[in-house]
Amino acid sequence: MQIQELYATRVYPAMSHPLSDPAVSVVAAMLGGLAARHPADARMLEIGCCSGLNLIPLALRWPESRFVGIDLSDQAITTARELAGAAGVSNIEFHTADLRDFEPGGGGFDCIIAHGFLSWVPADVQAALFAFCRRNLTPEGIATISFNLECGWRPRFPVIAKVRAIQQAGAADEMSALAILRSVTAADSPELEIIDDMLAKGPAILPFDDFGPINDPWSLDRFVQTTVAAGLRWLGESHPGLTLSAHLDPHLVADLLRRHAADPVAFMNAVDAAAGRTFRSAVVCRNDAPVEARGASAPMLHLSVRAGPRPEDPRDLSLLQAIASFAPSCIPLDEVVAALPGCDRRDVARRVVEGIQDGWILPRIEPVRFDVEPPPRPALDPFRLECARRRLPMVDIWHQPCSFPTGHYAVLAAMDRSRDLCGLAEFSKCHCPELAFEPWLRHLAGRGLFT
Ligand SMILES: C[S@@+](CC[C@H](N)C(=O)[O-])C[C@H]1O[C@@H](n2cnc3c(N)ncnc32)[C@H](O)[C@@H]1O
Repeated sequence: MQIQELYATRVYPAMSHPLSDPAVSVVAAMLGGLAARHPADARMLEIGCCSGLNLIPLALRWPESRFVGIDLSDQAITTARELAGAAGVSNIEFHTADLRDFEPGGGGFDCIIAHGFLSWVPADVQAALFAFCRRNLTPEGIATISFNLECGWRPRFPVIAKVRAIQQAGAADEMSALAILRSVTAADSPELEIIDDMLAKGPAILPFDDFGPINDPWSLDRFVQTTVAAGLRWLGESHPGLTLSAHLDPHLVADLLRRHAADPVAFMNAVDAAAGRTFRSAVVCRNDAPVEARGASAPMLHLSVRAGPRPEDPRDLSLLQAIASFAPSCIPLDEVVAALPGCDRRDVARRVVEGIQDGWILPRIEPVRFDVEPPPRPALDPFRLECARRRLPMVDIWHQPCSFPTGHYAVLAAMDRSRDLCGLAEFSKCHCPELAFEPWLRHLAGRGLFT
């Protein structure tokens, strides 16, 4: 099946992607030495935007910026326009277009997003993506491009080939072929885990994922070389804390670092291979962009931070406690400095950069504060309300998607300001009796879903 036919005949399970959030990508660019434009005042493009679930929340977040989304699928773009209309956003436009023929006009883009795109399209579209970014990025512009990694995908390909063979022999779809394969796979085979993982993904995802018409995983090395050949420059991972895989033995990482000390990309390739990593999300810019020394801490004084996953053995406990005391808010660095009496701002900025790179401090270009208590009249904004009505994943305050069981969506769709807490509790008891309403409401408030 061809890509266009697949996306025309089946509904892609679209959602928001935190790894493509420009509030974080611009910090990754800063760490790579580029002062990228603030996304609150920028022009952005998403390539392969599907039904707009990633782009529309960004257009809502930054009303002064302008957004363009393109996709090959007419159905997806029709849905994207409907959702944008329901959300009431006027700073976004969607076009059905093939990237190979797309001539945007209107000046360059400060930010281009191509998430879940590079590895799923043929070689000429891949080449067009890099050339497009080179032609259409502004001088300080950044592109966030994700891709599958071959080291993590390689063990999956023999399983995919076996499933295809079973299908050719008569099994109707991937799920039933996987079930047959599972029944004949030895209990100690490493393929069993892969088969179970594929079965867990389920029939809505598999045709676009493991069994997509094209799946071309790359190595970071190939990605970096291709960006260089296209006149671009790799700045780093879009979420800086994910530069290295967290679950590797530190001794092994230290050993790989010793062996590849002169070549950071070779080092990361080796770490990816050791971890069996499957995915990366990279930030790139033009090769003539004004890039300064990597990781300078001065620009970091202007960013905001929040606590990430707590490290087992925190090496900077006072900083960790200072940032965690503001949780769940993401606060300007100046407030962290004020919470650490006697500490020098630049020293705190340097320690923060280390914490970001280690993954326990999560950075953003701007603060985020919200009330974690459910309001007296819980209400969703028009975009989230429309997502609830259509049973689509709903974006949270950190750009993470939240999916719900069908019954929960009915209660969410009732959060249109017409009911107070008691009225909603009644509605929930009646339409979704199995739902533990109060803790669930607290959970929603904790993810910043209410207006
Ligand atoms: C795997 S989906 C990813 C969708 C979304 N970005 C995400 O990550 O969830 C790939 C998307 O790229 C679109 N696409 C594929 N080839 C394209 C092309 N040549 N030009 C524009 N869009 C394309 C598909 O229609 C599809 O919506």
